[in-house]
Amino acid sequence: MWKGRLAIVTILFVSLLAGLSMFTVRGASNDQLEVYSWWTGPGEEEGLAAMAKSFEGANPGVRFVNAAVSGGAGSNAKAILASRLLANDPPDSYQRHAGLELLDDVRSGKVQDLSDMYREQDWAKVFPKGLVNNLTIDGKIYAVPVNIHRANLIWYSPKALKELGLAGPPKTWAEFLQQADVIKAKGKTPLAVGPEWTQKHLMETVLLGELGADKYERLWSGGISWLSPDVTSALDVYTKVLATSDVKSAAGDWQPQLDKVFSGSAVYAVMGDWSSSYLEQSKKLAYKSDYDVVASPGTDGVYDFLSDSFTLPTGARRPDLARKWLIECGSTAGQNLFNPLKGSIPARTDADAALYHGYLEWALQQWRDPKMRIVGSLTHGVVANNAYNAEIDSALGLFVQHGDQGKFARTVEQQFRETQ
Ligand code: GAL
Repeated sequence: MWKGRLAIVTILFVSLLAGLSMFTVRGASNDQLEVYSWWTGPGEEEGLAAMAKSFEGANPGVRFVNAAVSGGAGSNAKAILASRLLANDPPDSYQRHAGLELLDDVRSGKVQDLSDMYREQDWAKVFPKGLVNNLTIDGKIYAVPVNIHRANLIWYSPKALKELGLAGPPKTWAEFLQQADVIKAKGKTPLAVGPEWTQKHLMETVLLGELGADKYERLWSGGISWLSPDVTSALDVYTKVLATSDVKSAAGDWQPQLDKVFSGSAVYAVMGDWSSSYLEQSKKLAYKSDYDVVASPGTDGVYDFLSDSFTLPTGARRPDLARKWLIECGSTAGQNLFNPLKGSIPARTDADAALYHGYLEWALQQWRDPKMRIVGSLTHGVVANNAYNAEIDSALGLFVQHGDQGKFARTVEQQFRETQ
């Protein structure tokens, strides 16, 4: 009997505590700013922490609440955010990629127009025009970019290439496939991949390498069909490339994907340049000697870009603080603090180039090279809206599992028309 009473008292007590803590979160919202992202890994976490510290320093008494949800490319964070937005429970600011990823939020009124802030801060002068265009929908600007990342990169260990007798990283996917035979004969995996989004990231870079920048862009705007001979042969190459990888046993996120290369079981990994901070800060590897990186095969001279940006959600509890946070994100000081740790280059054109060393120095030169062709990433939100991207995810999952390339192309072609 007394055990039953104790249980009831315990439940009541726990409920009271839960209620109190909810009250504390809601009640204390005057003094705190909740920022939502998926930056929980080495490098990105430190970058965010540096901006958070600077924000707290500039706003005494305000606590920065880091609501990050782990999972590369926002694989978990985006789903949880969607349910929060649906329940009208937004954080004060959340991460989105520049580009069509923003479209749903804008159309459904989930984010506020920041054009006034752009005018106040004179941001049109310091952010590249192409980037601002990717943040603008129907003439209004909806997010503040903190960085620029590059997706079309292939990472490797120069020592491992030497040991395998390979003269250098492959310049084309055809060359990669030749090298893959040599690598397999020596008992190693030619290409490491991770979870589904990394397989899509790989597909995007193979499409870019095989189609070239013009056709790659036309594919996303519906200018060429997934069933055209060019895209079919690019997908043939993707199928072959994937077959050289460890996709059948792939587990873990993008960090374990890179680990396989630097522990020596695999030779190459295609991944974005957030890898640089992981390799340097977490794995303590040195650029050029321990690790090296070049544009993924067939994409030299092309910068497949993406940009992490922050929004002001409709219904944010502290829009005033959120605005201050966005100013921090867009400021030179904020970008200088964040990007060298994050492993990205600043979105601002006037940020201090001297802060970027090793890989990032090269990235900045490439980004600022007037001859560089800039295209947008599929996997990281630039060129496809969320509905289309989700359809590509499902179709690609089936394709990777069952290998039916024709069905994949037909589905994606049809879904393009249905999701525009
Ligand atoms: C991207 C994001 C990067 C990095 C990466 C790995 O989508 O833009 O900042 O977080 O995913 O998680």
